Amino acid sequence: MPEERTVALVTGAAKGIGRASALALARAGFAVSVGYRSDADGAEEAVAKARAEGAEAIPVPMDVRDEASIEDAFGRTEAELGPVRVLVNNAGFTKDGLAIRYPMPTWDATLSTNLTGAFLCVRRALPAMLKARWGRIVNVASVAALMGNPGQAAYAASKAGMVGMTKSLAREVGGRGITVNAVCPGFVETAMTSGTPEDLKRRYLEMTPMRRFGTPEEIAAVIAFLARSEASYVNGAVIVVDGGLSA
Ligand SMILES: NC(=O)c1ccc[n+]([C@@H]2O[C@H](COP(=O)([O-])OP(=O)(O)OC[C@H]3O[C@@H](n4cnc5c(N)ncnc54)[C@H](OP(=O)(O)O)[C@@H]3O)[C@@H](O)[C@H]2O)c1
Repeated sequence: MPEERTVALVTGAAKGIGRASALALARAGFAVSVGYRSDADGAEEAVAKARAEGAEAIPVPMDVRDEASIEDAFGRTEAELGPVRVLVNNAGFTKDGLAIRYPMPTWDATLSTNLTGAFLCVRRALPAMLKARWGRIVNVASVAALMGNPGQAAYAASKAGMVGMTKSLAREVGGRGITVNAVCPGFVETAMTSGTPEDLKRRYLEMTPMRRFGTPEEIAAVIAFLARSEASYVNGAVIVVDGGLSA
C-alpha cells in the first residue's frame, strides 16, 4: 500500500511524544487523526502544524478508557479522512508510589489507560486492517517494562503488558500484512515527567551513557519509521530508544 494519504490515528497526540509522532507522520505523507483527551488547544496546535507540513489532519476527542469514545473517534476519522491503517497507541498515564500503600484506584487507572485502552483501540482498528491486508500498530511502551523502577510497579506492569500484547498480536496478525511493534522510550522531558524530582533526574542522567534525556522527536522518528512501507519486515519487535539507559 502506498503511504501517501494513508491514515494514521495517534492517541494522546495533543502534546509530548504523541504530538511529535503525529507531526513526523504528517511529514512522511500520512493523513493524521490527532487524538486528545483534555488538551483541545494542544490538539488544535498539533493539527495546525501538521497542516503546515501539507498533511490532512483533524483533532478527535478520545478517552481510551471509554469504549464509546474510541468508537466515536474512529468513526469521525473514517468519515473525515478514511479508514485507519496506522494506529499509534501513545496515550499514557503514570503516578509513582510505593507498592505498600499504592491506591488501587490509581493502579486501575494506570492499567485501564495504558494497557486496556491500547487493547480496545487495537480491537477497533483490526477489522479494517485485516480487510485491507495492511496495517501498522505501534505501541508506545517504556524501558520501565524491561528494567522496572522503584515506585512504578503499576506503570511498569502496564507497559510490560503492552510488550506481551505486542508480541502476541504480531504472531496473530503478521500473516495478514499487519505489523505490530513496541517502542520503549527512556527518559524524555514531557508533561508526564515534569514532576520528576531533580535528584532522580540526575540519577537517570548518570545511568544514561549519552548523558542527556531523549526528545519527543527522537522517539517519534522511530514510531514514524515503523509506520512506513519500508518497515514491512519489522514485526513483534521491541525497540528501545533510551540513549543506552537499559544497555
Ligand atoms: N516521557 C517519558 O519519559 C516516557 C518514557 C517512556 C514512555 N513514555 C510513554 O510515552 C507516551 C506519551 O507520554 P509523554 O511523555 O509524551 O507524556 P504527555 O505529554 O503527558 O502525554 C500523555 C498523553 O496521554 C494522553 N492521555 C492520558 N490519559 C488518556 C486517556 N485516558 N485517553 C486518551 N489520552 C490520554 C494525554 O492527553 P490529554 O493531555 O489530552 O489529557 C497526553 O496527551 C506515554 O504512553 C508514556 O507512558 C514516556
